[in-house]
Amino acid sequence: MAALAAAPDSDQTGPAVLRGGTDAPAVPSRSVVIFSGIQPTGRKHLGNHIGGIRQYVAGQDKAAPAIYCIVDLHAVTVEYEPVKLRERVYDTTAILLAAGLDPERCILFRQGDVHEHAELSWLLSSVTSVGELNRMHQFRDKSAQQRRLVSAGLLFYPVLQAADVLAYRADEVPVGEDQREHLELMRDVAERFNGRFGETLVLPASRIPEVGARVLDLQDPARKMSTTGATEQGTVYVLDEPGTIAKKFRRAVTDSGSEIVRAEDKPGVTNLIEILAVVRGVSPEAVEHDFAGRGYGDLKTAVGDEVAGWLAPVRERYEALRGDDSQLEGILAEGAEKARAIAAGTLADVREAMGVGPARRSVGPAT
Ligand code: TRP
Repeated sequence: MAALAAAPDSDQTGPAVLRGGTDAPAVPSRSVVIFSGIQPTGRKHLGNHIGGIRQYVAGQDKAAPAIYCIVDLHAVTVEYEPVKLRERVYDTTAILLAAGLDPERCILFRQGDVHEHAELSWLLSSVTSVGELNRMHQFRDKSAQQRRLVSAGLLFYPVLQAADVLAYRADEVPVGEDQREHLELMRDVAERFNGRFGETLVLPASRIPEVGARVLDLQDPARKMSTTGATEQGTVYVLDEPGTIAKKFRRAVTDSGSEIVRAEDKPGVTNLIEILAVVRGVSPEAVEHDFAGRGYGDLKTAVGDEVAGWLAPVRERYEALRGDDSQLEGILAEGAEKARAIAAGTLADVREAMGVGPARRSVGPAT
């Protein structure tokens, strides 16, 4: 059986109201649903900002709706402190708002507030094979890092992630390269579900950005910039002071030679060129052209200053937003209500297709 293509126009069971009701803002004629999830780690770095958050902001103008979820239920699969988790959710909410997410133009919510995710995750686990879960690289890596307990939640992590996306019948999922496997798994899950229970779920496409998808550690350009396992000096945080940012770039490890061009054996210089291209909104070629005949020192200073200037307003807005927990909570609560309105419809369809609970009366949801 052919799986439902990611074409909302033909998706009769989709949330028609949110896809362009009469008083909805002007939306493209074929509206696209975007969904992504983000871990509630307080410290977001330049790689997260360029590869993830920036796509979220852009998605607001493209999707109807763009849905972004702070995944506290995923965060509990490894060791953590409950009080800190709540704080990290607020940190992340404030960072996303500071970076340009607008609760009027997107749905921003906390995963744990929408119970439909957990139930859908359980139902989808019936069409997920343990073998597949056990082969996931992220599961292998994270389970090797656990000192006390490898939780069943860690193994089930990708099923919950599939539920996150499938609950909204999302067409596109902007994520980093590291999430490719999870995306493939969720497509398999949706396809298997549709094959066994009838066309119900939409197969999402991943959207992995080309430029800036891999921001490398400034001290160790063989590795991705990351909060865990990278060097502190090589990791630029969105909330770093401008002086700190400039210093980290000035000390960036570059490669032998002196020419400012991208090359396989010049990962350090390539990284700086690509970062500057993103900040300037130009192509990497344009940056190379600009720096022809100049030295590495010039490049490092320019990238440092320009990244610092680029992130400064984000840091300032963050500081203004982060002090007010109740305002943040209000934004998340409103987002959860909008999210639930969509997810509940999908969950009802899934329950119906699987024969869970009483049969739906023929009146059913508006189609
Ligand atoms: N696993 C993702 C990460 O570690 C976060 C995530 C959870 C997610 N649910 C999602 C991403 C749904 C995309 C779609 O980054």
